[in-house]
Amino acid sequence: MKLLDKIGREFSGYNILESGKRLFDRRPLQCSLYVTDRCNLDCAYCTEYDNSRPHPSLDDLKKWIRKIRELGTMRIALVGGEPLVHPDIVEIVRYCRELGFATSLTTNGFLLTRKLVAELEDAGLQVMQISVDRMTPSPITKKSFKTILPKLDYFRDSKISLHITGVICADTLPESEAVLETGLSRGIPTEVRLVHADPLQRFRVDRGRREELERFIDSMIERKRRGEKIHTSEAILNYQRSLLRGEHVEWTCMAGYKLFFVSAQGKFWICSMVHTDKHIMDVTLDDLYANYRKKSCQEGCGVYCAVSASLLVEKPIEVLGKEIIARAKRVPAMLSPSSGSRTDNMSSLNSTEPEGARKMNGSRNGGPSADDGVTLGKSA
Ligand SMILES: C[S@@+](CC[C@H](N)C(=O)[O-])C[C@H]1O[C@@H](n2cnc3c(N)ncnc32)[C@H](O)[C@@H]1O
Ligand code: SF4
Ligand code: SF4
Repeated sequence: MKLLDKIGREFSGYNILESGKRLFDRRPLQCSLYVTDRCNLDCAYCTEYDNSRPHPSLDDLKKWIRKIRELGTMRIALVGGEPLVHPDIVEIVRYCRELGFATSLTTNGFLLTRKLVAELEDAGLQVMQISVDRMTPSPITKKSFKTILPKLDYFRDSKISLHITGVICADTLPESEAVLETGLSRGIPTEVRLVHADPLQRFRVDRGRREELERFIDSMIERKRRGEKIHTSEAILNYQRSLLRGEHVEWTCMAGYKLFFVSAQGKFWICSMVHTDKHIMDVTLDDLYANYRKKSCQEGCGVYCAVSASLLVEKPIEVLGKEIIARAKRVPAMLSPSSGSRTDNMSSLNSTEPEGARKMNGSRNGGPSADDGVTLGKSA
């Protein structure tokens, strides 16, 4: 790839004009749509799946997607449950793209095949976030590189930008460093983040020791500042560190306004944790604007996509400025002939891994991130 193209990719997530519109008008930036409640896994920290419910029909999903677009939403993040278990997932992606959404999909990756990746790419999917918590499966989470590494080759020549995201808890922390290293060493923007706050104590996991978690977050902040492809903003890393320290953070939650969720029953949700019974088809821009306010659940909030989008809207110069500086630090490495030749620490798991899986640039087309308000996608 030409050097200028490579450098362009580093900044392609910043369509300042388009994202700027949503920073200053009253319309929403992003909607996370649950395309199904069903899931093929059972992660111990997850409360976001329910196999007793049927998939929503393609017709219903299309109706809700049209409405979400009519509200002026730029980006749509297809989530679940596990989105790939929906039989019409390719058609759902195609429809979102036809309506002009910047479109991402978050998946545990277990159902990915070469054919499905090609179909999703053909449908126009711009960003895929694969969740990987560990190197090998455990009773807490099966989402590991043991399953995902062989599948990375499907993205070798794909236009889909790939991100890796992991959850940190006591079970995964000993492997979080290796997860980060494995993603980054392949050129894939990678992030691991703390398990959400759990006020109702519904998660079946131990969160981990505070000092160890803090050390790990600190190390990610350091690496982010050095320009490594940590797939989240420094603001969110700092926010997580403050959570661990019990420090108050001043922010105004924009969930329900700049970003919102739609359940697999078509219900309007403020965020993944705060639900309403109102149907998305009945929601107006005034309803959204009414959610532009501080919320009683803000202290300790772990819905990082909401925190991220909120901080971006509140402090765009500060948040984007730091991100642009971090990305600019990658440019000298691109000029070096040995650029990208980092150690592969996965050889014991997958020594026959093809070269295409080793080097990928996950910020190819400037599409949206599933879960990060910093990377603002192209025009929707
Ligand atoms: C609910 S899942 C849905 C998509 C897909 N099934 C997956 O696992 O990627 C969306 C994302 O939320 C993360 N997640 C689920 N429960 C969480 C929790 N309690 N704390 C932090 N992240 C969580 C998952 O790891 C995943 O990255
Ligand atoms: S794969 Fe995703 S939806 Fe399924 S249980 Fe795990 S986190 Fe929840
Ligand atoms: S503060 Fe957090 S939990 Fe409360 S509405 Fe906002 S995003 Fe949701």
